[in-house]
Amino acid sequence: MKILAIETSCDETAIAILKAEGDEKAAQFTVLGNALLSQIDIHREYGGVFPALAKREHAKNLVPILEAALEEAELLHEDTQAIPEETRAKISEILARESGLAEAFFEFVGECEPPPIDAIAVTSGPGLEPALWVGINFAKALALLWEKPLVAVNHMEGHIFTALAAEKRLQDAEGTPLHIKDVSMPVLALLISGGHTELVVMKKWLEYELVGQTRDDAVGEAFDKVARMLSLPYPGGPEISRLAESLRSSLGGFTAKYSLPRPMLNDATCDFSFSGLKTAVLYLLKKNPAMSEHEKQHLAHEFENAVTEVLWEKTSRALEKTRAKTLTLGGGVSANKHIRRTFTEKIKNEYPDVTLRIPSAALTTDNAIMIALAGFYRTLRGDFPGLDALSANGNRTLAP
Ligand code: KG4
Ligand code: ZN
Repeated sequence: MKILAIETSCDETAIAILKAEGDEKAAQFTVLGNALLSQIDIHREYGGVFPALAKREHAKNLVPILEAALEEAELLHEDTQAIPEETRAKISEILARESGLAEAFFEFVGECEPPPIDAIAVTSGPGLEPALWVGINFAKALALLWEKPLVAVNHMEGHIFTALAAEKRLQDAEGTPLHIKDVSMPVLALLISGGHTELVVMKKWLEYELVGQTRDDAVGEAFDKVARMLSLPYPGGPEISRLAESLRSSLGGFTAKYSLPRPMLNDATCDFSFSGLKTAVLYLLKKNPAMSEHEKQHLAHEFENAVTEVLWEKTSRALEKTRAKTLTLGGGVSANKHIRRTFTEKIKNEYPDVTLRIPSAALTTDNAIMIALAGFYRTLRGDFPGLDALSANGNRTLAP
């Protein structure tokens, strides 16, 4: 079957079209089209994602992104379409709050043959609600017009399935098909992004239990805040990583200049806390207001070490507790080189029976391929909420 997937939960407008074959136990996916527009440059001057602006940008970008995805999938065929008056009225109502989107939508679909897709998947949460709504309303309009079933995907489930599709070797998604097969349950997922830090276990397909979570800041948020304290641009994760990596690669052995806490490292739960770490960085910077580039490298290095140690310690505790056979990393922060290296080493040395799956770097940050992967599993279950029931939920959770 062919799935068209839409992602607008944050600052990426993305649409992908995948051919999906097989079943839960052995699925194969071919990316036919994948179009993505990042708004990072627009949000950078605000030092973070500005929801009203994200919503406006999604509304502006969805039609061109759809066109690009269909074109790449060779599913774009010009043909004048007569849209029944009743359908047009319903769609106009659905898109009424998304400025300019209805006009662009009708102009495009009025000239385009309905593509042979079987389902439309869209992110329904978690994320920024105004941003989520644009994607959902766009998906509803397409589903209504093309008479296709609509699937609501949890964004975090998308991150898990992207990791499951990763081979042990970190492959590139371009061209080669993605497989989800030979997955040994339970699967423990460490989800680390700008809004989330949680450990979730999947014992059966699509059934989740929360094992641990942050009690305050998400790890990506901590990276972003520390970067801002160092006057580095948004998003801060890659900037901190760049600084830390330059020190890791330039010196064999060196003495750490700073020492930061490892919050909740010895606490018995699998929960996290990162706000204390952020405050410790703030105090350190108060004492050293004019840090040199080299000092910043030391700080970033120590911060990355502290975060990674805590993430690993809690994950290792959760592996023991859940007796998981597969570990996945997902979410934007899993692009971090030091975290990837550390987890790969530790699993190899300490849990050789556990399979670690980390998505290729290109698929760690938000995209629509991830929504299509999870969307296929939901489609197999016939999990279609229906147009009226589908709504955005900024705080949508995986575990009940
Ligand atoms: O999953 P994602 O793209 O969006 C959310 O759903 O939040 O994650 C974005 C987060 C940001 O906080 C960003 O700073 C962080 O991922 N990030 C990184 C790296 N690349 C992105 N954090 C650490 N190291 C990186 N290389
Ligand atoms: Zn994400």
